[in-house]
Amino acid sequence: MDFKQEVVETIAKVVSLPKEKIEALIERPKNVKLGDYAFPTFALAKIEHKNPAVIASELTAKLVNDNFAEIVAVGPYINFAIDHAKLVSVTLKKVLADQDKYGDQDTNQGNVPIDMSSPNIAKPMSMGHLRSTVIGNSIAKILQKIGFTPIKINYLGDYGTQFGKLITAYKLWGNEEAVKKDPITNLFHYYVKFHEEAEKDPKLEDEGRAWFKKLEEGDAEAVELWQWFREVSLQEFNRIYKELGVTFDSYNGEAFFNDKMQPVVDELRAKNLLHESRGAQVVDLDDDENPALILKSDGTSLYITRDLAAALYRKKEYNFAMSLYVAGNEQSGHFKQLKQVLGKMGYDWQKDIHHIPFGLITQNGKKLSTRKGNVVFLDNVLKDAVKLALEQIEAKNPNLANKEQVAHQVGVGAVIFHDLKNERLDNFDFNLNEVVRFEGDTGPYVQYTNARAQSILRKANVAIDDTKLALSDDWAFAVAKDIADFPAIIQKAFEKFEPSVIAKYSLNLSKKFNKYYANVRILNQDDELNARLALVQATSIVLTESLRLLGVDAPKEM
Ligand code: ARG
Repeated sequence: MDFKQEVVETIAKVVSLPKEKIEALIERPKNVKLGDYAFPTFALAKIEHKNPAVIASELTAKLVNDNFAEIVAVGPYINFAIDHAKLVSVTLKKVLADQDKYGDQDTNQGNVPIDMSSPNIAKPMSMGHLRSTVIGNSIAKILQKIGFTPIKINYLGDYGTQFGKLITAYKLWGNEEAVKKDPITNLFHYYVKFHEEAEKDPKLEDEGRAWFKKLEEGDAEAVELWQWFREVSLQEFNRIYKELGVTFDSYNGEAFFNDKMQPVVDELRAKNLLHESRGAQVVDLDDDENPALILKSDGTSLYITRDLAAALYRKKEYNFAMSLYVAGNEQSGHFKQLKQVLGKMGYDWQKDIHHIPFGLITQNGKKLSTRKGNVVFLDNVLKDAVKLALEQIEAKNPNLANKEQVAHQVGVGAVIFHDLKNERLDNFDFNLNEVVRFEGDTGPYVQYTNARAQSILRKANVAIDDTKLALSDDWAFAVAKDIADFPAIIQKAFEKFEPSVIAKYSLNLSKKFNKYYANVRILNQDDELNARLALVQATSIVLTESLRLLGVDAPKEM
């Protein structure tokens, strides 16, 4: 039960403020003796020109809700006290019945393509692509829990004039064995070398253009090389995805839309939206200073031309309820234009398209640069994280079975959790030692708390009876109250496309559970043993599920 929502609903019946406004006003009294929620009447007093304390007592007389043990006016506040024992037993019963389905909304809410990760072939995957991968993966899981069908699309950057340059470079300096051994490092090296050499010898640019033209025309050699570059790059990306535990439903990248752009251009023309501007074909937009550039003066297409074709394709293919794009903040202008052009074409579903931007990862406050080859960086980060995790496991639990596997779950989980615990748009600093700690606001701390709960249940080794669930202490109530909030937390994470809501929640629940553990003798043989074990089990279910929604494993022992 969402008690805060109950407070909102109850108050909404007697005051004429909008529900969002009421919700925003509700406070949590610092002193728990004063109740669990408080509604201040100052805002109403202003409107009605009355004394706040008078309003509070007048309104309180009209309020009824059985879910609260008490609703009382205290000065200018209306205080709501939850019936603690009832909350604990109702919540535990629900979680024990639903298990890992707790918080699911099983309504069929429709398809949601999520454009995520989308690295560029023959280039190192940047930290931005990593963030897109991890954020997109979590949002997909949250959507699924809410009742949508997510479709994870890796819109690979696998086409464009740069492939003409890359073919030229490969033919001049390439080595097949080297590419096979370490594809991205070597391909990227040729590409960089091309640019260096082209500055001295501009004829190289012509050659690059010529090879791109051949590729466009389907020349066998050009196509074969392009396909090979794509394949070996993808193999390398897949290694990283495997480490992270991320899969995709589609790898339809930019190239897939090569033959799907002409119809879009035709449609724009037929709808009288295209006009010439300095030789190029553009669409004028209302509240944007820059028109959208659809075709360059030489007739070639642009990034937005492909994205228009992709958006139309996705609408047709998936008939989506929403269409999401997890891509860096610097692309905001692009997605704004994309939506506006679709709107001008008469597609009101452009309103269902959401760009989900995110901030940068820094190291010691400095931006990380792709040029230095972050693919190496990322590989090493995950390896080092696993190593650090293993060291701590060796110290804490040297006899643990399958140590390597757990170290992998903890190390990789730590990196993912660290990314997701920060609000999406915030920049954050990355320091591996901070990330893999077992204490503090880290993924391993949540995993460790869950493993502790599991170990208590193993020690008790009894079946839990779902009819004896009454607990009256404040420590238990604090834990159960958070557990009761879980469905509302998922909803909030969904509405804001914000996995950090779940990460922060799991940290708070862990802290409360550890306080409970420190203050209550859980395994004591008395009448409340069953209810305490139920609380431990419910905590573990919700922590495991929270971690799963973030894309992090929850080992039962560590
Ligand atoms: N490949 C692009 C990049 O690395 C990201 C693609 C984002 N998705 C899209 N549909 N435009 O910047």
